[in-house]
Amino acid sequence: MHEQTACMSRLRTSDVVIAGGGIIGLSLGLELLQRGLSVVVLERDQAMQSASWAAGGMLAARDPENSPALLPLSLHSLALYPAYLDRVRTLSDQPVPIRTRRTLQQVRPSYSAGADVTFDDAKKWVPGLPETDGKFVWLEEDSFDPRDLCRALPMAFLAEKGILLEKTPVLGVECSSSAVVVETTREQIHAATFVNCRGAWAGDMHFGGIPVEPVKGQMVTVALAAERLRCVLRTPKFYAIPRGDGRVAIGATIEQAGFDANVHEQYIAAILHTAAEFIPEVEHASRLESWTGFRPGTPDDLPILGAADASNCWHATGHYRNGILLAPATARVMAQLIFGETPDLPLKVFSPARFPLKTALDACSSVSYSAR
Ligand code: GLY
Repeated sequence: MHEQTACMSRLRTSDVVIAGGGIIGLSLGLELLQRGLSVVVLERDQAMQSASWAAGGMLAARDPENSPALLPLSLHSLALYPAYLDRVRTLSDQPVPIRTRRTLQQVRPSYSAGADVTFDDAKKWVPGLPETDGKFVWLEEDSFDPRDLCRALPMAFLAEKGILLEKTPVLGVECSSSAVVVETTREQIHAATFVNCRGAWAGDMHFGGIPVEPVKGQMVTVALAAERLRCVLRTPKFYAIPRGDGRVAIGATIEQAGFDANVHEQYIAAILHTAAEFIPEVEHASRLESWTGFRPGTPDDLPILGAADASNCWHATGHYRNGILLAPATARVMAQLIFGETPDLPLKVFSPARFPLKTALDACSSVSYSAR
């Protein structure tokens, strides 16, 4: 349980190396630090600047568009969220305020969960809401601005003496039954455990051959009077998330476009047009910001959590549209797996082994690979 750097040989040792400095990697890192391990997080670019930064920030455990298989892990994460945020706030001394407490969700007529909403009640929260055919329910659901967490979480991780190496891509990993050797552009790291938390980039890792692909989302923030929208408004086609200060984040496209990071005006205009059917002022509101993000998508839209097909290596990725929601539970159950404990809930549905292996290397217990 130690961490040291030998500058001459550029050799570092750590109990755990995590690739990926997004919300999943840093939350798991924090959990492992608090269990007494030394942790190095390697981030190819800047921590919390990819999917975590691009996210909406809705803790949408009961979004009817989610896979039903996600619900137990989602509810577990919701239960862990207050303590998780308290820990991050305390360690970082940064605010991460909850900005909305409920969601007005348009559902299909057959949908039965949630509390039904009368049109008059809905209009109290979304003044000017036009009468539509759709049925709405209330979901008791919090949201926060992920940008607040993007500031706070790396600080919390560092405050617990985690090592965060940014602009440090992984070049190769050698896993064996006795140790893991991670090659980076800066140094070699010897560790007991390696965890792949690279989000949309996690499929680059050839050992395990996990099928993670980027699913592009485009979003936009507009300025509206603060009282114009007092809850999250979500339909199967868009969502609008008020930040409580006049900013309203509106999203999002779902695109198979590889790692194309460009914002396309016609997509942003289409999102705004859809939102304006429910909040007419959106059509002509000032735009404050538009951006893209890459969700880590998997073939069944479920995360990949568990042992890789190589000794001492793990995957925690593929959270698709719910990485923010699922971070605390992911950190907890992955720490339990790494410590050989029984996880709080069955994880078979998330096992990496549910997918056919992609490469011949997968059969080996000691593997190496080169990242792109
Ligand atoms: N988490 C919201 C989205 O993926 O659009």
